[in-house]
Amino acid sequence: MTIQMNGKIAIVTGAGGTLCSEMARNLAQQGAKVALIGRNLEKLKKVEQEITKNGGAAISVSADVTDQSQVEAARMTIINTFGFCDILINGAGGNQPDAVTTISEFNDEELNQEKGIRGFFNLSMEKFSNVIETNTMGTVIPCFVFGKDMAEKKSGVIINIASMNSFRPLSRVGAYGMAKAGIMNFTQWLAAYLAPANIRVNAIAPGFFLNERSTKLLTTPDGGFTERGGNIIRQTPLKRFGKASELIGCINWLIDDEAAGFVTGITIPVDGGFLADSGI
Ligand SMILES: NC(=O)c1ccc[n+]([C@@H]2O[C@H](COP(=O)([O-])OP(=O)(O)OC[C@H]3O[C@@H](n4cnc5c(N)ncnc54)[C@H](OP(=O)(O)O)[C@@H]3O)[C@@H](O)[C@H]2O)c1
Repeated sequence: MTIQMNGKIAIVTGAGGTLCSEMARNLAQQGAKVALIGRNLEKLKKVEQEITKNGGAAISVSADVTDQSQVEAARMTIINTFGFCDILINGAGGNQPDAVTTISEFNDEELNQEKGIRGFFNLSMEKFSNVIETNTMGTVIPCFVFGKDMAEKKSGVIINIASMNSFRPLSRVGAYGMAKAGIMNFTQWLAAYLAPANIRVNAIAPGFFLNERSTKLLTTPDGGFTERGGNIIRQTPLKRFGKASELIGCINWLIDDEAAGFVTGITIPVDGGFLADSGI
């Protein structure tokens, strides 16, 4: 599905990454002016160059989405370059190794520091908290900053990025799961809150898509799967990882005020059937 976005101004956070760079390219291809936000300007510039090479309009703005003043400064740059935001995609997020256990359930050995096992009791609470901050406030703050402009115009679309963890926690990633469950809840709350301002708020929940980090975690150099990667594929009825381009149809539909004009507050899984399969 393609839609006309001529003249629309879209902001994509995490736009230097695997999934959101694809979303940004797609928005630009359909005529939107796209502001790319992330911390690493070099990664954003690469996406910007691809877009402009193909005749699209994009700017890269470096900002940490957990820092309100940086997001406010990004807003001013975007207003001065393109204008006020019509579409906001909150893609910035992710995990950190020190907030992830290496075991799936409690093991007595984690109580002995010298064993080197990373169980729940060996996690860094600071990193745990950082993951929650990035994946929750990193969405809340852009909604706060750009949502206000949408509320003044009485129009806008916000799309948040949830996860399989939003529905049911996966093993080992407690902080990330807690945060992404929060994203689904916040999406519902904000959708109800902003409905009188004619702003629709939805989320997509990607299943498993390989990015720079998960490629190492889930696949082996010879093209096979790690134990966790194999478990995921077994649990995914379509028996493969997703491709970033397979999120685009859902994003376009959610953005389209005619096709999805009565849709707000939902979280849509795009997961190859992962959630549908009980595993038994
Ligand atoms: N890949 C999957 O299977 C999957 C599944 C479900 C949900 N998701 C979610 O989908 C989104 C995109 O994931 P992805 O796979 O494309 O990951 P990715 O390639 O790692 O992209 C995430 C991007 O977020 C940016 N980011 C992280 N923290 C930030 C911060 N504090 N401020 C600004 N930008 C920040 C990073 O750029 P900088 O480091 O330059 O800031 C990075 O480019 C994430 O929210 C992720 O949790 C992914």
